[in-house]
Amino acid sequence: MTGPIRTLRVAEVTPETDDAVSVAFHAEESGELLYRPGQFLTLRVPAPDGWAARCYSLSSAPGDARPTVTVKRVPGGVASNWICDRLRPGDTIDVLPPAGRFTPAPGHRDLLLFAAGSGITPVMSILRARAREGGKAVLVYANRDERSVIFAAGLRRLTEEYPDRIQVVHWLETLYGLPDANRLAALVRSWAGADAAMLCGPAPFMRVSDEALRQLGMDRARVLTEEYRSLASDPFVSLAAAPQEPPSDQAGATTVTVELDGERRTFPWPARTTLLDLLRAQDLDAPFSCREGACSACACRVVDGEVKLLRNTVLEDEDLAEGYVLACQAVPLTEHVEVVYD
Ligand SMILES: Cc1cc2nc3c(=O)[nH]c(=O)nc-3n(C[C@H](O)[C@H](O)[C@H](O)COP(=O)(O)OP(=O)(O)OC[C@H]3O[C@@H](n4cnc5c(N)ncnc54)[C@H](O)[C@@H]3O)c2cc1C
Ligand code: FES
Repeated sequence: MTGPIRTLRVAEVTPETDDAVSVAFHAEESGELLYRPGQFLTLRVPAPDGWAARCYSLSSAPGDARPTVTVKRVPGGVASNWICDRLRPGDTIDVLPPAGRFTPAPGHRDLLLFAAGSGITPVMSILRARAREGGKAVLVYANRDERSVIFAAGLRRLTEEYPDRIQVVHWLETLYGLPDANRLAALVRSWAGADAAMLCGPAPFMRVSDEALRQLGMDRARVLTEEYRSLASDPFVSLAAAPQEPPSDQAGATTVTVELDGERRTFPWPARTTLLDLLRAQDLDAPFSCREGACSACACRVVDGEVKLLRNTVLEDEDLAEGYVLACQAVPLTEHVEVVYD
């Protein structure tokens, strides 16, 4: 496979708990893997009917020797069980480039973090980066019981090494029951002024954490979320398919100028074609993963003109206000549109 797809070789598979493993890659073999703390890779794994593509957040931080993902087994799940049971050092795996917007912005120094279960993965990456770069963070980390806490030792080390800057509050359901908004709000009240709150975990946990932040009056623009779900489509198949020519009868009056990988190109943009389809048809390596408006791998910024998003379950109001859009869901609204990939 070619284009943005890279083949990584597994260096190490380390059990984290009874049902979670970390997979570290020899990334240097195919060039340095550049990513920001909190971003994810899309992995291609064997499935009963062929292949499946799944997103896994990097738990390592930029600068760590080996880029690493951490995967928790989902009962009956295709990819997570294959990774936990079958993946071995020396195996190779195809991945799409690091992507996602669940990453602190430059002005976000003090962070309020909520994670549950495997939702700790991007948060661990963020904490590791924070430890090196400065800034404070408090993490509320929910798990069923002590045995299911991923990165228990790593988190303890961080709090011992940086007691003034990094705090972790473990919420064990066996001790405290399921987390609820009132108690979470009471727990983090003194952190309501943090520069950003970041939430990652199963949907019910995200709901109560989000409600806790509302109770504390936290500005919505400062709340970032990452929802874990399986991809319904396979971006690797889309990449292998020949790019489609946009239908000529759709040729509208819009032109789009795109800045990507240091190159600036302008072309007509048919009214019902998504920006991602258009760029792929023009042979540009525009990033993507889910193509469902759910992962933000395809995010780019509109700096002139307007687009409509057919679907968006991932960008926050703050992102939209800054001009971020999802190329896989964007169709043109104005005669000229200019977009930039950061
Ligand atoms: C941005 C992002 C980052 C992520 N990061 C991580 C991470 O760091 N670590 C991590 O562990 N996970 C992460 N995930 C989740 C991960 O991508 C997968 O969704 C997860 O591993 C489950 O995949 P699976 O193939 O094992 O399960 P799937 O096969 O997708 O199944 C998921 C569940 O649905 C059920 N199911 C499947 N098919 C059906 C059906 N036809 N009818 C009814 N039920 C069905 C299964 O039994 C199972 O319970 C992330 C997801 C996203 C979007
Ligand atoms: S590719 Fe996932 S949101 Fe566009």
